[in-house]
Amino acid sequence: MKLELGHKSDFEIRREIHGCAGKTDLRILYMSDLHFNRYSGKIAAKLINAVSETNPDILLLGGDYIDSRKGLPHLEKLLDTFSGREHVFAVAGNHDYYFGIDAVKKLVTKYNISWLEKETAHFTIRGVRIQVDGNRIGDTNTETDLRLLCLHKPIALKKFAGRYAVCFAGHLHGSQFVFHENEHGLFPGRFFYRWNILRVKSGNCSYFISKGLGDSLPIRYNCRKDVILVHVNSENKQFEIRPLQESDSIEELTQLLHLAYSKLAEQGFRYLASHQDTSVTRRRVEKGICFVAVAENKIIGTLTCYEPGRAGGHPWYARADVSSYGQFAVHPDRQAGGIGSALIRHAETLAAKQGAKEITVDTAEGAAELIRFYEKRGYRFVDHAQWTETNYRSVLLSKKLSG
Ligand SMILES: [Fe+2]
Repeated sequence: MKLELGHKSDFEIRREIHGCAGKTDLRILYMSDLHFNRYSGKIAAKLINAVSETNPDILLLGGDYIDSRKGLPHLEKLLDTFSGREHVFAVAGNHDYYFGIDAVKKLVTKYNISWLEKETAHFTIRGVRIQVDGNRIGDTNTETDLRLLCLHKPIALKKFAGRYAVCFAGHLHGSQFVFHENEHGLFPGRFFYRWNILRVKSGNCSYFISKGLGDSLPIRYNCRKDVILVHVNSENKQFEIRPLQESDSIEELTQLLHLAYSKLAEQGFRYLASHQDTSVTRRRVEKGICFVAVAENKIIGTLTCYEPGRAGGHPWYARADVSSYGQFAVHPDRQAGGIGSALIRHAETLAAKQGAKEITVDTAEGAAELIRFYEKRGYRFVDHAQWTETNYRSVLLSKKLSG
C-alpha cells in the first residue's frame, strides 16, 4: 500500500554502487532519521537484521535518533548490537539537539560508536586509507584513498564535490509525500527542497540522500523508508551480484523473468519463465541458491544454482558430479553488458566449490542465439530432453569445471 499511517516498520535497503580507481572493495551502510519512540521495537529488530545481513565495512548513523524517552530502550538495543563492530560512526541531527545533544552523545559512545559530530576520522580497511568527516567539510591535507562525508542535513553539492568520493545525507524524509519521481528528484518536495532527491553524481563524487526510517508525524505516501548500502568498488562494475534476500521482491523477479523471456516467447518458445506466476518463481528459487544482479536498487539479472545431483528430469542431472542452474535472465535493456557472463561465472565458481565436475544448463533446441551464447562460454551438447511444461525439445549443454 502506498499510504502509510502510523509507526510502520517497513523499509528498504537501497543498494547503490560507486565506482572508483585503485584497489577498493568496500560496503558502506548509512541509516538516518530513526526518530525512535515507544513504537520502534519492530523497526529496531529489522535494522539489526539488515546490518547483520549486509555486514557493511563502515556503518554511518546520520542523526535524529530519538523522539521520546520511551524510544530509548529500542535505540539502546539497536546500538548495543553495533558495539562489537569496527568503524561505526554517528553524527547528530537537529532533533538530537532538541532532545539534548549531550545525552545522545553519551548514549552513542557508550556502545563503542565514534561520535563524529564536526569531527574527522582516519582509518584503514584492507589497505585502503579512509577519511570520514561528520557534518563538516574537513581538510584534504592527509593522504587518503577514499574520502567520505556523513551529513544529517543535505548541503549544496558544489561545496564539497571535488573533495569527497561518497557523501550521504538524510533529514528530508523524502518530504513524506511523493506523487512523482524522476531523475531530478521526489516531487512535490523537490519544488521546496533542492536536495529532495535519491542520488546525484558530479565528477567522481556520488551524493546519496536517504528518505529516513521514521517520522515525528507518522504519515507517508509513496515514500518508502530506507537505509542506503553503497558498494564502493574499483572494477567500475555497473552492477553487483549477490544472493537473493528476504527483502527482495519475488514479484519484481517474476516480472524480470517475463521481460527477459518475452522475445523467445514471441518466437514461439513457451519457456516456463516467460509466463510463470510468483508462486512458481518462489518454488524454483527455493530449490537452489538464487543470485541477483542489482543496479540502482533494481534487479536486472538473475540465476538459480542447483547443487550437484539436485536437478531432476533427466539421468544426466541425477549424476552426483553434475551441478546446474536455471531461471537465468538478464533485463532486455541490459543484455550484452557482461551481466549474463558474470552470473554464469558466479554459478560455475559455486559449483566447483561444491565439488561438481560439470555444470549443465538446458534450453530450447531452436533457440540458436542462446545456444551460441553458451557455446562461446565453453558449453557443449550432451543430450536432448523433453519437459512436460514446455512446447519444445530441450538440449542439455554442459561444461567441464576445472580445479
Ligand atoms: Fe529527521
